[in-house]
Amino acid sequence: MRHAQTFTEWLPALVFTVCAVALFLAPTHSNVPTTPTPEVNPEDLQTTAAREPLGNPPITKINGFDRDCQDCHSLFKSKQAHNDGKLQHDHIKLQHGLNSDCLNCHLEKDRNKLRLHSNKSVTFDKSEMLCAQCHGTTFRDWKNGSHGRVQGSWIEHSEERTRLTCVACHDPHKPAFPGIAPLPGPQTLRMGKPNGYHAHYKSSLMEWLNQDENEEHTHE
Ligand code: HEC
Ligand code: HEC
Ligand code: HEC
Ligand code: HEC
Repeated sequence: MRHAQTFTEWLPALVFTVCAVALFLAPTHSNVPTTPTPEVNPEDLQTTAAREPLGNPPITKINGFDRDCQDCHSLFKSKQAHNDGKLQHDHIKLQHGLNSDCLNCHLEKDRNKLRLHSNKSVTFDKSEMLCAQCHGTTFRDWKNGSHGRVQGSWIEHSEERTRLTCVACHDPHKPAFPGIAPLPGPQTLRMGKPNGYHAHYKSSLMEWLNQDENEEHTHE
């Protein structure tokens, strides 16, 4: 009687010990199939502006010297629609659709300014007023905060809130963005492989459980 009682007292401890040993000896990794984590170029994750806009007056480095536009343009007259780049500015290859004349945007008489309709002009630090002349709807969207980026804070009058101007993102001479390759999706068991999500939707988990590999999972 006494002996049996001791055994039942010891039984739970024995069971736990067996479990503990089994757990200890069990393999620590299961062979869930994984694909290698896709590499992401850190540059693709940067959040700074794409460009640094010019200020007023616009200063550019020419042969190592800081020059504003009138340093040269007050010395001679030239009004080419398409700068041929033989003498200066050969890095500019205008690709702005039908807007293909330099002097649509640059004021002929004072190159430190940008040209607006009806003989008005605006300084380079307000270049969005130039874009607004031809891109009224986008400009309105930008003012309302739905085009271009709001940074720092969503609160309208917050000091941390900053807005990027058009030319902080768009190169005025070649405003279209080159296509951006999407970053790979997250790699999780249930969501399947990160690439070709729509083309062949296969969950790694399903493959692991030996489901029919050809079964199509469609999305509504
Ligand atoms: C080092 C002198 C120099 C500076 C500084 C300079 N330019 Fe020019 N720019 C020229 C010359 C020279 C031409 C004519 C180019 C040619 O014929 O190949 C020209 C041509 C141009 C044209 C083409 C239309 C035309 O007049 O023929 C524009 C627009 C222009 N410049 C704008 C600017 C702006 C804006 C700045 C300032 C950000 C600037 N330039 C600064 C020398 C200069
Ligand atoms: C004189 C009128 C005019 C001004 C000023 C002007 N644009 Fe444009 N822009 C156009 C036209 C016209 C097109 C359409 C080009 C096409 O599709 O052929 C265009 C196209 C664009 C596009 C679309 C490019 C694409 O192919 O997807 C962007 C972005 C753009 N402009 C940005 C700007 C910015 C930023 C400014 C100010 C620095 C500006 N534009 C100033 C006339 C203008
Ligand atoms: C859509 C309007 C537009 C057209 C068209 C245009 N520019 Fe500009 N350009 C600008 C704006 C806006 C800036 C200021 C960009 C900034 O702040 O970063 C600028 C900057 C410049 C600069 C100084 C920056 C640099 O890259 O050296 C030069 C020089 C210049 N433009 C010359 C030209 C010439 C030459 C042409 C014709 C081949 C031309 N631009 C056509 C709007 C235009
Ligand atoms: C934070 C960056 C950013 C700012 C600031 C910005 N844009 Fe854009 N813009 C974009 C991007 C990104 C696209 C989409 C390009 C694409 O789809 O190829 C775009 C597209 C456009 C287009 C093509 C038509 C469209 O609506 O899709 C125009 C025109 C344009 N922007 C004009 C402007 C003007 C004008 C301003 C300033 C008032 C401005 N953008 C400010 C990033 C910006």
